[in-house]
Amino acid sequence: MTKYYFTLLIILVFLGCSSKKDTPISKETPINSNIESVLLSGSSEEGKLLFANCAVCHGTLGEGNVKLNAPALANLDSWYVYRQMINFRKEIRGSSPQDTLGFQMAAMAKILKDSMSVSHIVAYLKTMPQAIVTSSIKGDITKGKLTYQTVCGSCHGPSAKGNEKMNAPRLNGLEDWYIKRQILNFKNSIRGSHPKDILGAQMIPMMALLPDDQAIDDVIAYILTTEHSGSL
Ligand code: HEC
Ligand code: HEC
Repeated sequence: MTKYYFTLLIILVFLGCSSKKDTPISKETPINSNIESVLLSGSSEEGKLLFANCAVCHGTLGEGNVKLNAPALANLDSWYVYRQMINFRKEIRGSSPQDTLGFQMAAMAKILKDSMSVSHIVAYLKTMPQAIVTSSIKGDITKGKLTYQTVCGSCHGPSAKGNEKMNAPRLNGLEDWYIKRQILNFKNSIRGSHPKDILGAQMIPMMALLPDDQAIDDVIAYILTTEHSGSL
């Protein structure tokens, strides 16, 4: 009988400990069947405090900082930010030796205690006003439109607003320099080559359809017109 109580005690202690323990980073789920409730569980007040860690690079209003290579966050959709943060935490994004900026960001994502902290930050980002992004890339908008509508639009949406069902993020509202860097990163397999980066990997073959720098600038120039048309 004593042995029975002893075993029960061990089990209870074990359960008690494990329920208090944070979920290890490796078990955090980026694509959750219940992503809406994960996102809704965040508190924007907690997120505001945590965002102090991010504002240094991304700006207090999430407006981005070109000098620090940190993109605007205020215009991004919550589901996409959540996924990227978990990917950075798990080193699914930012682990390629050539990805120095992604590596820097992954280190920042890992200072957060748990995935709940990510939900808090996402909740806070939602309260931010839209960031105004300036652009400097010049390209042939007509050519860019043709590429965009025949290749990119099927996933990212006809006006570059993104499509959650396709897991493809909003592109209007991103800075041109950031879009260009990501395109080049995908093209050179610096982003999207981690075996677990199934969604990033979708982008790599698409980039073959942008054969040179000019084609890249053309498509970006077109994406920027969707933003200027106020469709954000
Ligand atoms: C030391 C500067 C620095 C700090 C601090 C920092 N970031 Fe970043 N972040 C970056 C850089 C640089 C990139 C671009 C990485 C790339 O080019 O792939 C980035 C990218 C991102 C992205 C991806 C955006 C996209 O469109 O895919 C998200 C989301 C993000 N950061 C959120 C955060 C959050 C939340 C925090 C605070 C916990 C934070 N960052 C702290 C530098 C920083
Ligand atoms: C088959 C669907 C698909 C097509 C077609 C596609 N993309 Fe994507 N794209 C994605 C997905 C999914 C992601 C998100 C990857 C991730 O989660 O890391 C993405 C991410 C991106 C990003 C990174 C955004 C950010 O905030 O970091 C850029 C830039 C981008 N795509 C541009 C393009 C352009 C330009 C084209 C056309 C030449 C294109 N994509 C075609 C699915 C697609």
